[in-house]
Amino acid sequence: MSNELAQIAARMVAPGKGLLAADESSGTIEKRFKNVGVECTEESRREYREMLFTAPDLEKYISGVILFDETIRQTASDGTPIPELLAAKGIIPGIKVDKGLVDLPFFPSERFTQGLDGLGGRLDEYHRLGARFAKWRAVIAIGEGIPTSQCLRANAEALARYAGLCQVHGLVPIVEPEVLMDGAHDIETCRRATEATLHEVFDALGRYRIGFKHMILKPNMVLSGTDCPRQASPDEVADMTLTSLRRTVPVAVPGIAFLSGGQSDTAATANLNAINAKAQAMKTPWTLTFSFSRALQASPMALWRGRAENETAARQSLIQRARLNGAAAQGKYDPGMEQAA
Ligand code: 13P
Repeated sequence: MSNELAQIAARMVAPGKGLLAADESSGTIEKRFKNVGVECTEESRREYREMLFTAPDLEKYISGVILFDETIRQTASDGTPIPELLAAKGIIPGIKVDKGLVDLPFFPSERFTQGLDGLGGRLDEYHRLGARFAKWRAVIAIGEGIPTSQCLRANAEALARYAGLCQVHGLVPIVEPEVLMDGAHDIETCRRATEATLHEVFDALGRYRIGFKHMILKPNMVLSGTDCPRQASPDEVADMTLTSLRRTVPVAVPGIAFLSGGQSDTAATANLNAINAKAQAMKTPWTLTFSFSRALQASPMALWRGRAENETAARQSLIQRARLNGAAAQGKYDPGMEQAA
């Protein structure tokens, strides 16, 4: 089993490839559809996602797709179950298994991720449906007096218990502690919060006997807060991000797949590229790639607008972003490639 998990993890972060996060909850995708004037129904969500997953050449740049519970049970228009459709292209199906965020009592503005009850049984079912990796997202906010140690610890413990269940039930856990970019804080504040978060997470993973070789870390990049008057350059983002990772992430972890977190698609790609360019010079031990939702889907969704006649353009823009991020995952991206494409 552990050999199999190591192989899945290695495939997830194969050179020049990353993950497509398509696991938006029904509420989240409804907001995104609304922005582009699309009615959100089970069928429109299915159609949209089928369009993405059947984009020609997706498998060249995308190693795995994170699905939502609804999608892993759906079939493509020709009747093929979605996980089977992905697997046939050599793309590993994955599944979001947390049940979202709740307020942490007595800790204003801090939240906790739920979903551990009955998780083992759900993982068995997802495995039968074809999933080979899972994702659990914890959210850490930056603000006056936060994050607190209680919030960090509560979320880290849940991530560790989730990761252990995944490894026992045959799925590679994506461990996702997201430090949000919302706020006017500077990049140094984000670095401190990210380091504190990752320290707490890897401490919990170690105490719960998680196999570091059989997991993928999905962290935020270290960024200036959205409302910070001075926005850090890709070079600074790369420095700060790698500093945080080198101080906290064990060498045995095979790969790190960043979330985009609300950055524009081109900013996320430029930052991923800068991180990889520096990481190569430093000879960091992990593969550093992407696991983006918004930074891969913003442009195809805006082009699609729910119309069949826009599908080709939407698919082309997904492939362009996937290809450019695949290049960035190897430090081979140049902003000039945006124009050329
Ligand atoms: P973003 O890339 O839009 O941050 O989403 C990644 C994700 O999977 C959030 O859990």
